Amino acid sequence: MDVFQIEGPVQLKGSIKVNGAKNAALPIMAAAVLAEGRSTVKNVPNLSDISVCGELLKSLGCNVERQGDEISIDATTIDNPVGDYEIVRKMRASICILGPLLARCGKVRVSMPGGCAIGYRPVDIHLRGLRELGADIFIENGYIVATAPKGLKGKEIFLGGPFGSTVLGTANVLMAATLAKGVTVIESAACEPEITDLANFLKKMGARIKGVGSPRLVIKGVRHLKPVEYEVIPDRIEAGTFMTAAAITGGELDIPNCCLDDLMAMADALRNINVTVEKNNGGCVIARDGIIKTAQITTQPYPGFPTDLQAQFMSLLCLAPGNSVIIEKIFPDRFMHVAELSRMAASLRKEGAAVIISGVDKLKAAPVMASDLRASAALVLAAMAAEGTTVINRVYHIDRGYEKIEERLNPVGAKIIRLKD
Ligand code: EPU
Repeated sequence: MDVFQIEGPVQLKGSIKVNGAKNAALPIMAAAVLAEGRSTVKNVPNLSDISVCGELLKSLGCNVERQGDEISIDATTIDNPVGDYEIVRKMRASICILGPLLARCGKVRVSMPGGCAIGYRPVDIHLRGLRELGADIFIENGYIVATAPKGLKGKEIFLGGPFGSTVLGTANVLMAATLAKGVTVIESAACEPEITDLANFLKKMGARIKGVGSPRLVIKGVRHLKPVEYEVIPDRIEAGTFMTAAAITGGELDIPNCCLDDLMAMADALRNINVTVEKNNGGCVIARDGIIKTAQITTQPYPGFPTDLQAQFMSLLCLAPGNSVIIEKIFPDRFMHVAELSRMAASLRKEGAAVIISGVDKLKAAPVMASDLRASAALVLAAMAAEGTTVINRVYHIDRGYEKIEERLNPVGAKIIRLKD
């Protein structure tokens, strides 16, 4: 298992590009199975989660090849509509193969995703939505077994849950509905830009979808979809992580391909705590040279403050004199970073789904443990601002969502060494 050795404090300065969005690429790759033939997905980051998705598609019968940042998926033959436990346990986003396989093959077995470091993550709404479209679904030996003997049929479906909309639940039902008979209306659909990207991919394949980007999607089923070429959007969470990196190190970063319109809540939160965020032809520039102010942040579905940036923002608020509060409304237990940041001299108190952050003058280096993707990113940020040499163990968590992060942050001033274990 690789380890990061990070020397701080550093001040980041320069230009850094973001890669394609992992969370858009994953459902788009799954959607490729809806059409016979070869689809090509461009701007796909080279991440372990993407490799697992490729492995999953191969196990179904697809031919999957990567060349640079392009992945081609030949879905002419799907002869094994099964999401095996050995693959799903590596990446729970594998669940988004459920809708496309059901629509394409009329039957599917996908391992039920298991535990997750960020808390309990049920898939009941995915199943409810697909049942509404006419699927018979039961759980057997840890697998979701779904069949649609009479085909799928469009319906009005409310897809909201106790924590608002569901991103991959919307993806699953949307993908299945593209080939269902008649009209499907998804009410309380997720509005995340990754869902918009998926919908645009499906439209290019020939799907008929209205209301893209809104909480009400209207899908008129078609008989066939065709394979296409498509370029994935830049990763807004990676962009937000780099924005926070500039802020926490008191530096200045130019992110030339950051879509600031997809990060309004983040930009607003940064501006409110004394960080400059400026739009500049296609991207943005982030800078801080004063003291960070305190903040009250609540994570919400898009366009609210993203849960996927909560941990990183907490690292930043550790340096704001006074008390800040972060309330997590999507995954109430997503606080694995709290204990590790505390090892770096942060002053944090967890109260249910909230954390009170009492700002400290300095963070201090310590050996810490990466626990999940975004929590690990938060530790990298904290380490760049902390005094001394921080060692982060279990770096594979970071590699799931950030491609060679050290090779991209070092040219703008970071001092990160990857040690092979
Ligand atoms: N939920 C249910 N029932 C369901 C589905 C979801 O109760 O059937 C609840 C969840 O427990 C949670 C809330 O609804 O409280 C929202 O979960 P959602 O389904 O939207 O999460 P997801 O689709 O499984 C995606 C991202 C996550 C991101 C969340 C929220 C991918 C591959 N994953 O997960 O990304 O945190 O949306 O925005 O797109 C990450 O990249 O680090 C990551 C975890």
